[in-house]
Amino acid sequence: MILPILIYGHPILRKRCLEIEKFSNKINSLIKNMYDTMGKAQGIGLAAPQIGISLRLFIIEYNNFYKKKFKQVFINPKILKIYGSDLITKEGCLSIPNIIEKIIRKNHLIIEYYDENWKKYKQHFNGLLSIIIQHEYDHIEGKLFLDHISDKKKLFLFNNFNKLKQISANTNKSQLIQTNLS
Ligand code: CO
Repeated sequence: MILPILIYGHPILRKRCLEIEKFSNKINSLIKNMYDTMGKAQGIGLAAPQIGISLRLFIIEYNNFYKKKFKQVFINPKILKIYGSDLITKEGCLSIPNIIEKIIRKNHLIIEYYDENWKKYKQHFNGLLSIIIQHEYDHIEGKLFLDHISDKKKLFLFNNFNKLKQISANTNKSQLIQTNLS
Protein backbone atom coordinates (compact mmCIF):
# COMPACT_ATOMS: atom_id res chain seq x y z
CA MET A 1 0.00 0.00 0.00
CA ILE A 2 1.32 3.42 -0.96
CA LEU A 3 1.20 5.85 1.95
CA PRO A 4 1.54 9.64 2.04
CA ILE A 5 5.03 10.90 2.86
CA LEU A 6 5.23 13.50 5.62
CA ILE A 7 6.69 16.81 4.54
CA TYR A 8 9.10 19.10 6.38
CA GLY A 9 7.36 20.85 9.25
CA HIS A 10 5.51 17.76 10.50
CA PRO A 11 6.43 17.19 14.18
CA ILE A 12 6.89 13.41 13.78
CA LEU A 13 9.94 14.10 11.58
CA ARG A 14 11.56 15.78 14.59
CA LYS A 15 10.97 13.01 17.13
CA ARG A 16 13.57 10.48 18.17
CA CYS A 17 12.04 7.14 17.20
CA LEU A 18 11.50 4.19 19.55
CA GLU A 19 13.03 0.74 19.23
CA ILE A 20 10.93 -2.09 17.83
CA GLU A 21 10.52 -4.49 20.72
CA LYS A 22 9.30 -7.55 18.95
CA PHE A 23 8.80 -8.61 15.42
CA SER A 24 5.22 -9.07 14.25
CA ASN A 25 3.10 -9.22 11.11
CA LYS A 26 2.41 -5.54 11.67
CA ILE A 27 6.11 -4.79 11.14
CA ASN A 28 6.13 -7.02 8.08
CA SER A 29 3.30 -5.10 6.46
CA LEU A 30 4.90 -1.81 7.51
CA ILE A 31 8.06 -2.84 5.64
CA LYS A 32 6.02 -3.81 2.58
CA ASN A 33 4.16 -0.50 2.63
CA MET A 34 7.46 1.34 2.95
CA TYR A 35 8.87 -0.40 -0.14
CA ASP A 36 5.66 0.39 -2.08
CA THR A 37 5.79 4.04 -1.00
CA MET A 38 9.50 4.45 -1.72
CA GLY A 39 9.15 2.78 -5.12
CA LYS A 40 6.32 5.08 -6.15
CA ALA A 41 8.29 8.14 -5.02
CA GLN A 42 11.44 6.85 -6.77
CA GLY A 43 13.51 7.18 -3.63
CA ILE A 44 16.55 5.14 -2.63
CA GLY A 45 15.88 5.23 1.10
CA LEU A 46 12.91 5.70 3.40
CA ALA A 47 12.61 5.84 7.17
CA ALA A 48 9.46 4.86 9.12
CA PRO A 49 8.87 8.37 10.56
CA GLN A 50 8.51 9.68 7.00
CA ILE A 51 5.23 7.80 6.79
CA GLY A 52 4.23 8.78 10.31
CA ILE A 53 5.52 5.76 12.23
CA SER A 54 7.94 6.74 14.96
CA LEU A 55 9.94 3.50 15.04
CA ARG A 56 13.63 2.79 14.49
CA LEU A 57 13.38 1.28 11.04
CA PHE A 58 14.55 2.31 7.60
CA ILE A 59 14.93 0.68 4.20
CA ILE A 60 17.38 1.21 1.36
CA GLU A 61 17.09 0.07 -2.23
CA TYR A 62 19.81 1.35 -4.45
CA ASN A 63 21.56 0.37 -7.67
CA ASN A 64 25.20 1.41 -7.83
CA PHE A 65 27.20 2.37 -10.92
CA TYR A 66 27.79 -1.27 -11.71
CA LYS A 67 24.06 -1.98 -11.55
CA LYS A 68 24.63 -4.00 -8.46
CA LYS A 69 21.55 -3.91 -6.31
CA PHE A 70 21.67 -3.18 -2.62
CA LYS A 71 18.38 -3.82 -0.86
CA GLN A 72 18.23 -3.94 2.91
CA VAL A 73 15.92 -3.43 5.86
CA PHE A 74 17.56 -1.88 8.94
CA ILE A 75 15.71 -2.54 12.20
CA ASN A 76 16.87 -0.99 15.49
CA PRO A 77 20.13 0.12 13.87
CA LYS A 78 22.96 1.45 15.97
CA ILE A 79 25.86 3.28 14.34
CA LEU A 80 28.95 2.24 16.28
CA LYS A 81 31.48 4.40 14.49
CA ILE A 82 31.57 7.07 11.78
CA TYR A 83 35.06 7.76 10.49
CA GLY A 84 37.37 8.41 7.53
CA SER A 85 37.69 11.35 5.21
CA ASP A 86 35.00 13.86 4.32
CA LEU A 87 32.77 13.08 1.39
CA ILE A 88 30.65 15.78 -0.21
CA THR A 89 27.50 14.59 -1.95
CA LYS A 90 24.34 16.26 -3.15
CA GLU A 91 21.49 15.11 -0.94
CA GLY A 92 17.78 15.32 -1.37
CA CYS A 93 14.95 13.95 0.75
CA LEU A 94 11.43 12.78 -0.02
CA SER A 95 10.26 14.84 2.98
CA ILE A 96 11.92 18.03 1.68
CA PRO A 97 10.84 18.12 -1.95
CA ASN A 98 12.65 20.24 -4.53
CA ILE A 99 15.71 20.94 -2.39
CA ILE A 100 19.06 19.38 -3.19
CA GLU A 101 22.07 20.50 -1.24
CA LYS A 102 25.74 19.61 -0.87
CA ILE A 103 26.32 17.90 2.47
CA ILE A 104 29.62 16.84 4.04
CA ARG A 105 29.68 13.48 5.80
CA LYS A 106 32.31 10.88 6.65
CA ASN A 107 33.17 8.17 4.18
CA HIS A 108 33.01 5.12 6.50
CA LEU A 109 30.76 3.70 9.16
CA ILE A 110 30.18 0.58 11.20
CA ILE A 111 26.60 -0.26 12.01
CA GLU A 112 24.73 -2.93 13.92
CA TYR A 113 21.14 -3.77 12.95
CA TYR A 114 18.55 -6.50 12.54
CA ASP A 115 16.93 -7.51 9.27
CA GLU A 116 13.29 -8.49 8.70
CA ASN A 117 14.10 -12.07 9.81
CA TRP A 118 15.38 -10.72 13.11
CA LYS A 119 18.92 -11.70 12.16
CA LYS A 120 21.62 -9.48 13.65
CA TYR A 121 24.38 -7.90 11.54
CA LYS A 122 27.48 -5.86 12.23
CA GLN A 123 28.73 -4.34 8.99
CA HIS A 124 31.07 -1.79 7.51
CA PHE A 125 29.86 0.51 4.71
CA ASN A 126 31.71 3.13 2.73
CA GLY A 127 31.12 5.58 -0.09
CA LEU A 128 27.58 6.42 -1.12
CA LEU A 129 26.04 3.65 0.99
CA SER A 130 27.66 5.13 4.08
CA ILE A 131 26.10 8.49 3.14
CA ILE A 132 22.62 7.04 2.48
CA ILE A 133 22.70 5.14 5.78
CA GLN A 134 23.72 8.29 7.68
CA HIS A 135 20.87 10.21 6.01
CA GLU A 136 18.28 7.56 6.95
CA TYR A 137 19.73 7.15 10.44
CA ASP A 138 19.30 10.91 10.94
CA HIS A 139 15.57 10.45 10.28
CA ILE A 140 15.10 7.99 13.14
CA GLU A 141 17.01 10.40 15.41
CA GLY A 142 14.62 13.21 14.46
CA LYS A 143 17.20 14.94 12.31
CA LEU A 144 17.10 16.07 8.68
CA PHE A 145 19.88 16.67 6.20
CA LEU A 146 19.27 20.41 6.42
CA ASP A 147 20.61 20.29 9.97
CA HIS A 148 24.04 19.81 8.42
CA ILE A 149 24.10 23.17 6.63
CA SER A 150 24.58 26.75 7.87
CA ASP A 151 21.64 28.88 9.09
CA LYS A 152 22.35 31.45 6.41
CA LYS A 153 22.05 28.87 3.66
CA LYS A 154 18.97 27.36 5.28
CA LEU A 155 17.24 30.75 5.24
CA PHE A 156 18.04 31.15 1.57
CA LEU A 157 16.70 27.69 0.79
CA PHE A 158 13.53 28.20 2.77
CA ASN A 159 12.66 31.37 0.96
CA ASN A 160 12.86 29.33 -2.22
CA PHE A 161 11.09 26.38 -0.63
CA ASN A 162 8.11 28.56 0.28
CA LYS A 163 8.03 29.99 -3.22
CA LEU A 164 8.06 26.48 -4.64
CA LYS A 165 5.23 25.44 -2.33
CA GLN A 166 3.19 28.42 -3.53
CA ILE A 167 3.90 27.62 -7.16
CA SER A 168 2.86 23.99 -6.76
CA ALA A 169 -0.26 24.98 -4.77
CA ASN A 170 -1.25 27.38 -7.54
CA THR A 171 -0.57 24.75 -10.18
CA ASN A 172 -2.80 22.29 -8.36
CA LYS A 173 -5.52 24.92 -8.09
CA SER A 174 -5.45 25.76 -11.76
CA GLN A 175 -5.51 22.06 -12.60
CA LEU A 176 -8.55 21.70 -10.38
CA ILE A 177 -10.31 24.58 -12.07
CA GLN A 178 -9.59 23.06 -15.43
CA THR A 179 -10.91 19.70 -14.29
CA ASN A 180 -14.08 21.34 -13.07
CA LEU A 181 -14.51 23.09 -16.36
CA SER A 182 -14.12 20.03 -18.51
CO1 CO B 1 15.31 11.75 3.82
